[in-house]
Amino acid sequence: MNPLRRFFSWVAVSLTAAAFVSPASAQLSKDAVKLYAELCASCHGANQEGGTGTSLVDGIWNRGKGDDAHIARMITEGLPELGMPAFGATLDAGRVRALTVFLREKEIRAKEKGTSYAKPKRDEVVKSELQAFRVETVVEGLDVPWSITFLSKGGGALITERKGDLRVVREGKLLPEPVRDTPKVFAQGQGGLLAVAVHPDYASNGWVYLAFSDPGADGTAMTAVVRGRIRDGAWVDEQEIYRAPRALYRKGGNHFGTHLVFDRGYLYFSIGERGAQDNAQDLTRPNGKIHRVHDDGRVPADNPFLKTPGALPTIWSFGHRNPQGVALRAAAGGGDPELWATEHGPRGGDELNLIRSGANFGWPLVTFGMNYNGTPVSADSSRPGLEAPVLHWTPSIAVSAITFYEGTRYPEWRGNLFVGSLAQQELRRLVLKGDDVVSQEVLFRGIGRIRDVTVGPDGLLYLCMEGPGRVVRLVPVE
Ligand code: HEC
Repeated sequence: MNPLRRFFSWVAVSLTAAAFVSPASAQLSKDAVKLYAELCASCHGANQEGGTGTSLVDGIWNRGKGDDAHIARMITEGLPELGMPAFGATLDAGRVRALTVFLREKEIRAKEKGTSYAKPKRDEVVKSELQAFRVETVVEGLDVPWSITFLSKGGGALITERKGDLRVVREGKLLPEPVRDTPKVFAQGQGGLLAVAVHPDYASNGWVYLAFSDPGADGTAMTAVVRGRIRDGAWVDEQEIYRAPRALYRKGGNHFGTHLVFDRGYLYFSIGERGAQDNAQDLTRPNGKIHRVHDDGRVPADNPFLKTPGALPTIWSFGHRNPQGVALRAAAGGGDPELWATEHGPRGGDELNLIRSGANFGWPLVTFGMNYNGTPVSADSSRPGLEAPVLHWTPSIAVSAITFYEGTRYPEWRGNLFVGSLAQQELRRLVLKGDDVVSQEVLFRGIGRIRDVTVGPDGLLYLCMEGPGRVVRLVPVE
């Protein structure tokens, strides 16, 4: 070979070698859907149904436990002796994570195809595992009802509509006019008038609390909480309970939280990260946090970050994406009740968390989900020092409100946690043993997005639902 030719063939070989060993991740898509199509579909089928490789959606895992760690290991190490290549050199940890979330999503969706859930028509009896019930409509004609609170045993209630109206139910009838002079709200996207709750001593003090998207300057907003009274159909005596510094308000209509929870003189509420992921880790920002104040808005002397320079004093826990359901669980044996919260994950990774003072719940450093476009948020689903969720849902169900049932009307359901969902339109019943969820039942699905789940003075479960906007209750049937 003449020297010139030798030189060119050397270049060609080097180029091929370079292309081969260079971290191919740089050129590869970050989108798990595309990655699957490019790297896996040829053997596992376009719809994961199997081919040369086995089906990845039949719930049968031949080579391991089928948990996230197994799937991730298969992708990185492959099964060379069986003809599955190792992708560890090609795919970085984030892409492996996103592919894992993608396969999990597909597996569960495939499993659900073969399962049917109750989709009760009006007043149809649902025979669930432990309790038969009817879904009875009690209030109709609402526009995206967000939450409900009860005023008395006699059928009095207040309901928020996201667009900004506070509606009154008197003796079981919805009054045509909303309460006048309630706070102006930022009613865009997920923002608006959100939670309503009455003070535990409402009968003597008349305080009604509202949490809402508070409009700031230049189209910004942030979740705020006020209390006031209702007199002659109007909102009066308003007091500010929580407002973030206006400079920290943000644009955009996403992730406001929230529900309101009273516990022995304290008030808890959440604020979603408002679409600014990194703010969830920043203690100088109100978003991406669960907050705790006294019921008159004062900052409790034992809040966890009072001594942290720059931290906002009302922060109770942080690293949250969009915690919407917040509820107390009565302690067994008379101890302190526990605060639990659900939060919307991105694509996958909805969470149920047991909230502890000062704890970091990890968003966006760790998550069981990925971005909506299939790219990874993080390569990690857990890290030391970050609170792991009690439970996570992948694919997402879009978890909204929660309540622990401690009443007597459905005796078999005592101590269970009831979870509403938006996208999946489900009401789930979770059975806990200690702080672990040991089973879940979908009580029904597909009759409307569920915004609130709570217990009425009659001991029945009440739900605020969309499609059409209404309040229903679950009436036990013998
Ligand atoms: C060249 C063919 C081929 C390609 C490409 C391939 N696989 Fe595989 N895969 C296999 C074979 C064969 C097995 C072993 C099946 C068995 O259990 O007998 C396997 C097994 C697996 C398993 C373990 C299944 C179990 O039952 O435990 C997973 C998970 C998996 N592959 C995921 C992927 C993903 C994700 C990709 C793309 C990044 C991929 N595979 C690309 C052929 C392939």
